[in-house]
Amino acid sequence: MKLMLQKGTVIWMLGLSGAGKSTISNLLEAQLQTENIFSIQLDGDELRKGLNKNLGFSMEDRAENIRRAAETARIMAEKGIVVICSFITPLNAHRTIAREILGEMYFEVFIDCPLSVCQQRDVKGLYKMAGNNTLKNFTGISSAFEKPENADLVLLTEDQTPQQCCDHLYAAVSSRVTSLQLT
Ligand code: ADX
Repeated sequence: MKLMLQKGTVIWMLGLSGAGKSTISNLLEAQLQTENIFSIQLDGDELRKGLNKNLGFSMEDRAENIRRAAETARIMAEKGIVVICSFITPLNAHRTIAREILGEMYFEVFIDCPLSVCQQRDVKGLYKMAGNNTLKNFTGISSAFEKPENADLVLLTEDQTPQQCCDHLYAAVSSRVTSLQLT
């Protein structure tokens, strides 16, 4: 889009809670800013506070969460915005929903980290709560997470720093997000 001088796309980061989705999203956003590329982040914690606050963590509700997130991302990306989405997106069926809504704008990134490492990090204390059963349907503990098979990119956050992951990600998406030239 000429007004934005950039091409819209959707970078869809998925993975377990604590895998590093938000950390890498923040770094990518900062990197894009240095290139004068405007991006917006969407994530589960944010959308579930408002737009999706009527949804829980059953598989049906997660599917609806993903559908609304993808539709929101589509509207913004069609206007030229780079949308960075971070959602657990636990099932292949959920990824299909996002892919079907976003078509060629969809770039899937699996933020891959062993469950044991996510549990150790436990940034939000949710694994502890899931472990003593005060939090139900928690992904990886009492709710399924299917390993994605068709990701456009896999980032292993156990053995690399967040910045290294961001560098790989930027290299992989740079051709999708480079600024348009004024003619
Ligand atoms: S998704 O499965 O529908 O894609 P989403 O990414 O929106 O999940 O939300 C995940 C966030 O919700 C987690 O980062 C965590 O902070 C919070 N959360 C609260 N309860 C759960 C739960 N039962 N399972 C997973 N995440 C949960």
